[in-house]
Amino acid sequence: MSDLWSARFKKDTDILLKKFNSSIAVDGLMYSEDITGSIAHAEMLCKKGIISGSDCAAITDGLKGILADIDSGALTIDPDAEDIHMFVEGELTRRIGEPGKRLHTARSRNDQVAADIRLYLRKKASETAVSLKNMIKALYETAVKHTDTVMPGYTHLQRAQPVTMAHHLMAYASMFMRDCGRLSDAVGRMNLSPLGSAALAGTTYDIDRGQTAAALGFDGVVANSLDGVSDRDFAAELAFCASLIMTHLSRLSEEIILWCSWEFRFVELDDSFATGSSIMPQKKNPDVAELVRGKSGRVFGDLVSLLTMLKGLPLAYNKDMQEDKEAVFDALKTATDSLNIFAPMLLSMKVNAENCAQAAKRGFINATDMADYLAKKGMPFRSAYKLTGELVAWAQEKGMTLEEIPLTELKARSDLFASDVYDALDLKTCLEKRVSEGGPSGKAMQKQLEAVREFLDA
Ligand code: ARG
Repeated sequence: MSDLWSARFKKDTDILLKKFNSSIAVDGLMYSEDITGSIAHAEMLCKKGIISGSDCAAITDGLKGILADIDSGALTIDPDAEDIHMFVEGELTRRIGEPGKRLHTARSRNDQVAADIRLYLRKKASETAVSLKNMIKALYETAVKHTDTVMPGYTHLQRAQPVTMAHHLMAYASMFMRDCGRLSDAVGRMNLSPLGSAALAGTTYDIDRGQTAAALGFDGVVANSLDGVSDRDFAAELAFCASLIMTHLSRLSEEIILWCSWEFRFVELDDSFATGSSIMPQKKNPDVAELVRGKSGRVFGDLVSLLTMLKGLPLAYNKDMQEDKEAVFDALKTATDSLNIFAPMLLSMKVNAENCAQAAKRGFINATDMADYLAKKGMPFRSAYKLTGELVAWAQEKGMTLEEIPLTELKARSDLFASDVYDALDLKTCLEKRVSEGGPSGKAMQKQLEAVREFLDA
């Protein structure tokens, strides 16, 4: 097949160029989409009377045979072929002779590859969506068990206000639910057929683009043939979806790494999802979370590669575009693999509710509640905020918490204080009073959990 253009050329392709030009190591993954696309194309050519019924039958039978043989391992994809399109067409002609040479009528590798990638990415994106749902399910199932597990909520990584482990985990469920929506939006925009764009300017044959589009499950056809062969927006969009999934996973990774440390000890990973050290016998390391945090960088690199690859390209096809597949395939695969290991790691992780509660007791996370207590009794919030600040400083000096300050000390500063202040400062009350929609109180959490349950059931 490398001799395809030998009539036009006087010299053989240099062996270095042959190797450099070959993309089969990556696009070989799309063999099934390439073959299915060719079958749809041949059937359309036949229906439009462009090739005969017998040629069409020979072509489609031949292609189905190739597909079955690659699937079974009876046929290995030639690693020296230029790409999967050349390999399949060459193998077809080797098997069925003359009819095989008619397959490429009214088609170019440019619209062929544009169709193949879309079909392949559609399949891969749906695998990512399944992994996202499993991740949301793992968060949900962990959260359900920890609606009463009080822990400090942080800002600036400083203890801020009380939340629960369920509240914290459900924040991540919200992120991953948005990721699901983003993925399906991107797939929806991508799902149009470029077939019939041919090399760039369509074709003189009376083809039926709608037929190939319908046969391959596309929602319609790309409106402009130049755009059909040059558009790789969908690859960048999917790499962005993968990047944001990795961003979310990486933030959660960072927290799990912190939570596993002796400084926090909020969680303990199951032995089956942790690793040891080659020298320090005591170590139990959160490698999964660290690897995911590390891999996020590679996925962002994939996105930047795609945007950079595209930004200087004149219309229509340019060989630069062959670089698209490695980047977007890697981005989706890395995101899917990361989600797939994260979900069981979460499900087997032990939350140490006692340590979470201990951490919540220190750090004055009920200070806002004291200010609110005074404000609800009539003091302007700013004055209440200032007075509470003074009490925090006083208590810190004495090594006390706010609830340990005697009532006489409180009353000396404001006669709005009464014995009910101790109930208002109790962490359980602080949580239960946070009834605003989206907050950590039991009632607000039930609503959030229900929404996630509905999403998972849909
Ligand atoms: N392997 C090529 C790619 O992935 C297929 C398209 C080749 N088209 C061309 N005009 N050389 O981009």
